[in-house]
Amino acid sequence: MRHFLTINDFSKDEILAMLKLAIDIKHKHERGEQTPYLAGKTLAMIFEKSSTRTRVSFQVGIYQLGGFGIFLSNSDLQLGRGEIIRDSSAVISSMVDMIMIRTHMHERLLEFAKYSSVPVINGLSDAFHPMQLLADYLTMIENGIYVDNKILNTPQKCVSQPIVAYIGDGNNMANSWLMLASKLGFELRLACPKAYSPKKEILDIAYKNAESSGAKITLCEDIFEVAKGANVITTDTWVSMGQEAEKEQRMKDFKDYKVDSKVMSLAEKGAIFLHCLPAYRGLEVSEDVIDGAQSRIIQEAHNRLHAQKGVMVWLDSQNSKKATLQI
Ligand code: CP
Ligand code: NVA
Repeated sequence: MRHFLTINDFSKDEILAMLKLAIDIKHKHERGEQTPYLAGKTLAMIFEKSSTRTRVSFQVGIYQLGGFGIFLSNSDLQLGRGEIIRDSSAVISSMVDMIMIRTHMHERLLEFAKYSSVPVINGLSDAFHPMQLLADYLTMIENGIYVDNKILNTPQKCVSQPIVAYIGDGNNMANSWLMLASKLGFELRLACPKAYSPKKEILDIAYKNAESSGAKITLCEDIFEVAKGANVITTDTWVSMGQEAEKEQRMKDFKDYKVDSKVMSLAEKGAIFLHCLPAYRGLEVSEDVIDGAQSRIIQEAHNRLHAQKGVMVWLDSQNSKKATLQI
């Protein structure tokens, strides 16, 4: 069974195949054509944390593919009252064709996938947010910033050796950038306060991937250094969901890690600003940058819809549950 728990689960070609599907489906949708690739299929969407983009994009995405989405909030599920993951997963997966989960500890996701008879998609865990990264890369492609590859039917002119600078917390977003860059082979510079660097085991995976992909991964504490000549500048909240108790300390520790116009001025001409959202204006990013001409945050959020349709169609084609009705 192929699940989508992290980008590291896939080869470069598989990631590009999903992106190609996403682009084709997006273009079809924009031309007003139907895309009923998952007609009659059901997606269960389990949310143990809040969401705006993930919830709306998956619900609308499965609908646009001809399927049906069921929103399941932790507070309404027996899972939220202590039913074990094993039973919940086996039962839910016996009735639906695909499951998306947003959860706290990544281990919960692994446990869920272990007992699921259908593909499970990571809609964010404390370790990774892979769906966001596919949307981010799709946005980079649309802005002509991507590792040149014939699979993608994209603009001829592009920045074919992109440099991405991630500034801030070494969290699920930073980890996911590490996986994407190291698989696809582009340069990723991370600037994180020392105490908030990505974990060694995640960095080790990225360094190992980079050996074969040609990616360049660097880590430092200097936000101006990473921004120099970058094609994409990105950041994330200083306080992720579940870290609210650390807020006061984090405000102090990250105060020098804001993406502002000075940081953006060091980037390459034509550089774009990305943020997965929700954003906190005046903290990790200044208002003039997030609302400025280089910001692509709305395009990026919108692309969640199309990137995830590509993922769902690809996963379905790999795992087609050929239910045979025998009477
Ligand atoms: N970026 C993102 O996943 O947003 P939501 O938390 O609103 O789903
Ligand atoms: N790092 C953030 C991402 C939100 C989409 C969090 O986990 O809360």
